[in-house]
Amino acid sequence: MEFGALSRLIVISNRVAPAEGSHSGAQGGLAVALQSALREMGGIWFGWSGGQTDVFTGQVNLQRGDGYTTATVDLEEQDIDEYYNGYANRTLWPLFHYRMDLAEYERGFAGGYQRVNERFADTVRPLIEQDDTVWIQDYHMIPLGQELRRRGCANRIGFFLHTPWPPRRLLATLPEANELVETLFAYDVLGFHTAEWLESFCDFARLEMGADIEEDGDVIRFGGRTVRVIVCPIGIDTAEFRALAASDTAQHTCRQMERSAVGRAMIVGVDRLDYSKGLEERLLGFERFLLEHPEERKELFLLQIAPPSRASVGSYQRIRNTLEGLSGRINGEHADLDWVPIRYVNQGYPRDVLAGVYRASRIGLVTPLRDGMNLVAKEYVAAQDPGDPGVLILSRFAGAAAQMQEAVLVNPYSAEEISDAILTALRMPRDERIARWRALMDGVEREDVMWWRKRFTDELIAAPSLAEVD
Ligand code: G6P
Repeated sequence: MEFGALSRLIVISNRVAPAEGSHSGAQGGLAVALQSALREMGGIWFGWSGGQTDVFTGQVNLQRGDGYTTATVDLEEQDIDEYYNGYANRTLWPLFHYRMDLAEYERGFAGGYQRVNERFADTVRPLIEQDDTVWIQDYHMIPLGQELRRRGCANRIGFFLHTPWPPRRLLATLPEANELVETLFAYDVLGFHTAEWLESFCDFARLEMGADIEEDGDVIRFGGRTVRVIVCPIGIDTAEFRALAASDTAQHTCRQMERSAVGRAMIVGVDRLDYSKGLEERLLGFERFLLEHPEERKELFLLQIAPPSRASVGSYQRIRNTLEGLSGRINGEHADLDWVPIRYVNQGYPRDVLAGVYRASRIGLVTPLRDGMNLVAKEYVAAQDPGDPGVLILSRFAGAAAQMQEAVLVNPYSAEEISDAILTALRMPRDERIARWRALMDGVEREDVMWWRKRFTDELIAAPSLAEVD
């Protein structure tokens, strides 16, 4: 069945991008991707406004624009502390990125998370009509599907996780792990970016909870519910990004960057300032290159763009301090009168400017320690000049690596591997750069954000509806 006039898409995620076309560089890749999917499909995008209110009223702010409507609500200070800064970003985010050392387990956070998901359910329920298809995004909202079911919502509801799913034994340390995972059985379809994340989920469901997994592994039964699980890697809006890369702003930025590079090769990294992105390890890998190849060092420099993120959370304040110290030390030790090895920039840029920066750079350095997908890797590829493309160096531990095998793949924990990969990329002949880029670009074009949206919603629509099952 295809979407007809009767079936609207209701997307629900914590962060909602404005309906009127902002291309701010501060947005995560997920918000940008959902914006493209909704522009194509039409419907409602519901979530937190990012704003605060004294008393939660559930009053929805509706805004029409660019092919879809946004519907947002304000939250109370305690909600923001316990739900967003607390359970989402101090408990689940570090745990899901394998950082048990940073994960904080507090009952207050778990309670706030549950309360806010109930508030979201109360608020969005009246907006959902009988034939709508509901698609919930990411770790902030795992229990929302169950809360909607409790409020009589029999629509098809899907859930997509944009982070990794952690190995079973890590997840088992979360005090309410089983209850949380149980809520996922309220959905009809669960989507993950890679087979690795999906397998970890199935492991937990089977071994910790006794769920029953069908032989081909894509249908799981638990507590009288049947859920379909799929691998469905998100892409970028490739056509849009190529157009951005061809825009006047991008071309102007590209020329400006080339001028300021004065013939040196630019290596670029663009990441939210997050400990999962491996920024410390990246700078140390770059320093290793400077030490191991003194003859080459003045031939290049690293531009690291890292807009601050989740600044109320202590681990984010610490990583920011660490990186300031580290970039300062490396520059102090290695810089010369006419050369500074690292340009470290703590602000976001519009996407057309970034496209120009990517195009001007010889190497894209994308080395997260763990990442659900990583769309910067895909945007880097989409921005390149086909006749003279740059080289993508990509962490093996990013979800994107499963699709982007023609990148120079590295273990981001190894300074030596990062250093070797920089040398390989610098010396790579143009023919090889073109061949690798072509193969990468084919994938980025084929499995773009429209493909992702369609693959997931097709699965969701094909799932038997609750009305048929019950
Ligand atoms: C990641 C998450 C998204 C989130 C984004 C930006 O990509 O998977 O859900 O929106 O980071 O983080 P923030 O906390 O600023 O929304």
